[in-house]
Amino acid sequence: MSASEHITVRPALVGDAEAAVDLRVRVVDEGIWMGAEPPVDRVAAAAGFLDYVDSDDKGAFVAVADDVVAGDTVVGAVFVSFALPGVTTLGMNVDAAWRGRGIGRALVDEVIAWSRAREAHKIELEVWPHNLAAIGLYESTGFEREGLRRRQYRRRNGELWDAVVMGLVLDTESPGCTVP
Ligand SMILES: CC(C)(COP(=O)(O)OP(=O)(O)OC[C@H]1O[C@@H](n2cnc3c(N)ncnc32)[C@H](O)[C@@H]1OP(=O)(O)O)[C@@H](O)C(=O)NCCC(=O)NCCS
Repeated sequence: MSASEHITVRPALVGDAEAAVDLRVRVVDEGIWMGAEPPVDRVAAAAGFLDYVDSDDKGAFVAVADDVVAGDTVVGAVFVSFALPGVTTLGMNVDAAWRGRGIGRALVDEVIAWSRAREAHKIELEVWPHNLAAIGLYESTGFEREGLRRRQYRRRNGELWDAVVMGLVLDTESPGCTVP
């Protein structure tokens, strides 16, 4: 699958680990988008990446830029797993220099396909209220805002940050609760 003529989105491979950790370090170091805060533990991050690559019940996809100068490099990644039976969740990042070119959308599309293929009935996630790019991406791929978790997460500097809860319902056929 191609997000643009220079980008390929594909399942992550073991050999992508170092480049994917580099990407995670760059995005976490921005300080305001991710749940994790710097510094990234590279050993733990690599182990976490390989856990997703090797697992049957987790998925990882990368966006690889075809760079004629520097060689292929990972510029985006998404990770999907089951948060609850039938409910998947995702984490993702796109290199700052490559944002706004459709990579995020291509990665979310992979998560939706992966979740549907495993008969998940829903995808859920949390996102910081100030992360307008991520909220815009999720809304543009069908997610809805379901609520706001107030003062939910303590940051290292002592601040308590809200989190927006978003969800994409995949199963719209099963009955809802019938309790009157
Ligand atoms: C959020 C993120 C993954 C988006 O990736 P991206 O490749 O830039 O997104 P895309 O180019 O695929 O954009 C898809 C849609 O998202 C929305 N969007 C993207 N950037 C946006 C912005 N800055 N403001 C509002 N909406 C935006 C738009 O609807 C866009 O569709 P359009 O281009 O047709 O208007 C990227 O900004 C990122 O990695 N941020 C840092 C890490 C992060 O926030 N991870 C998610 C944590 S919950």
